[in-house]
Amino acid sequence: MRAAILEHGETQLNVVADLEVRDPGPGEVRVRIAYCGLCHSDKSVIDATPDETPIVIGHEASGTVDSVGAGVSQVSPGDSVVLTTKPSCGRCYWCSRGRPTICINNQSTALFTPLPDGSSGLRQGGRDVLRGLGVAGFAEMVITTPDGLTRIDPDTPLDIAAVLGCGVRTGVGAVVNTAKVAEGDSVLILGLGGVGMSMVMGANLASAATIIVSDPVAERRAAAIDLGATIAVDPAAEDVIEVTMKATGGRGVDYAFDAVGSAKLVATGFDATTPGGAVVVVGIGSDATYQVPLMSLMVEEKRLLGSLIGSSLVHRDVPRLLGLWRSGRLDLDRLVTSRRPIEEINAGFDDLAAGIGLRTVVAFN
Ligand SMILES: NC(=O)c1ccc[n+]([C@@H]2O[C@H](COP(=O)([O-])OP(=O)(O)OC[C@H]3O[C@@H](n4cnc5c(N)ncnc54)[C@H](O)[C@@H]3O)[C@@H](O)[C@H]2O)c1
Ligand SMILES: [Zn+2]
Ligand SMILES: [Zn+2]
Repeated sequence: MRAAILEHGETQLNVVADLEVRDPGPGEVRVRIAYCGLCHSDKSVIDATPDETPIVIGHEASGTVDSVGAGVSQVSPGDSVVLTTKPSCGRCYWCSRGRPTICINNQSTALFTPLPDGSSGLRQGGRDVLRGLGVAGFAEMVITTPDGLTRIDPDTPLDIAAVLGCGVRTGVGAVVNTAKVAEGDSVLILGLGGVGMSMVMGANLASAATIIVSDPVAERRAAAIDLGATIAVDPAAEDVIEVTMKATGGRGVDYAFDAVGSAKLVATGFDATTPGGAVVVVGIGSDATYQVPLMSLMVEEKRLLGSLIGSSLVHRDVPRLLGLWRSGRLDLDRLVTSRRPIEEINAGFDDLAAGIGLRTVVAFN
C-alpha cells in the first residue's frame, strides 16, 4: 500500500508504495482510507523531528471499512466512516460526564498510539512502522478499534467527511461546545487556518452578532468575511485589541479564541475579552507558557478555557455537522480547497505553511 512515512531526522515525509498492513485481529477494524486532511498539528510533529520513528501520522481521515475482526458488531465491511484521533472509552468518569476528549483511558500525549495488543499493524521492508496520532491516516489502509471511528451515511462525499476528523470538529466545537457562544455574543478569532475558519462557521451557526477575525494572510481574511465574519484585522497593520474594543463599545468580546498556538495571542485574547468573558485556547504552541494576570481573572471574572478536538462527542457531532452541511448551513465545500494525491503530500504541507488555500486533503483513490 501507499503511505507517507516520517523517518528519523527527516523534515519531509517519505512516500512509499510497499507498506504492509496485517489482517484485523479480534476487536479491530481495518479501514481503507479515502482522504486525510493536512492539519497544522501534523506539521508540528514533522517540524519537531521526533524520535518515535518510522511513523505514519495524519489524523483527519475518512474511509471505508475493509474488514472487521472477531467480535466487532459496530461496523461492517463497506461502511463509510470518519476516524477519530482521540477515541474514548464511553465508561470512565469523564466520558460519563460528557467529556470524552479527556477520557481517562486515552490521556496519553505520546505520538505513537499502539493498538490494544501493543502493535501498530503496519510493517515495511521487514521493520515495524509506528501508528501515529491515533489514526495513521497517511496510509492507504489502517487498523483501528470500533471506538476509533464513527459511521456516516453512505452517500456522504468522503473528502467532505475527512475534515470532520479534526479541523471542523475542533473549530466548530470550540465555539458551540467549549465556549457555548450564545445568540448575539461577540467573538474574536485569532488565526484563520482550517481550525480558525471552522470557528467562524461555528460562530455563525451560534448566531454571534460580532465576529472579529485576525490573520496576516489577506485571502484568508477575505474568505472569513465571505463565511460570515463581520470585521477582519490584519495583525501586521492594525492593533487587534484596539479594533476589538472599538467594535464592542469599549467592552471587549465575550469570547476570544487562539487558533494559532501562541502565548502572545492568548495574552491578546485575554486583553481583548470583556469582564465575565473567556479566552479559549485551541492552538498548540508546544511548550509555550502564558502568565495569567490574576487580578483581572479574579476582579473581572475572566476565564481561560482549554479545548481539545472541540470538546466534541464524536457520535453526536459528526452526524450533526454533516446534517448542517446537507442543509447548506455549514460550508464544508468551501473549506476543502485542495485535493492532492498522496504523492504530493509534502507540497500540501508547503501550502499549509505558506497559508495557501484553506484545507488540503490528500487522496488515495
Ligand atoms: N486543540 C485541538 O484539539 C487542536 C486540533 C487541531 C489543531 N490544533 C492546533 O490549532 C492551530 C491551528 O491549526 P490549523 O490547522 O488551522 O493551522 P493553519 O496553519 O492552517 O492556520 C494557522 C493560521 O494562523 C495564522 N497566524 C499566524 N500568526 C498569526 C498571528 N500573529 N495572528 C493571527 N493569525 C496568525 C496563519 O496565517 C494561519 O492562517 C495549530 O496550533 C494546531 O496545532 C489544535
Ligand atoms: Zn473514557
Ligand atoms: Zn488536527
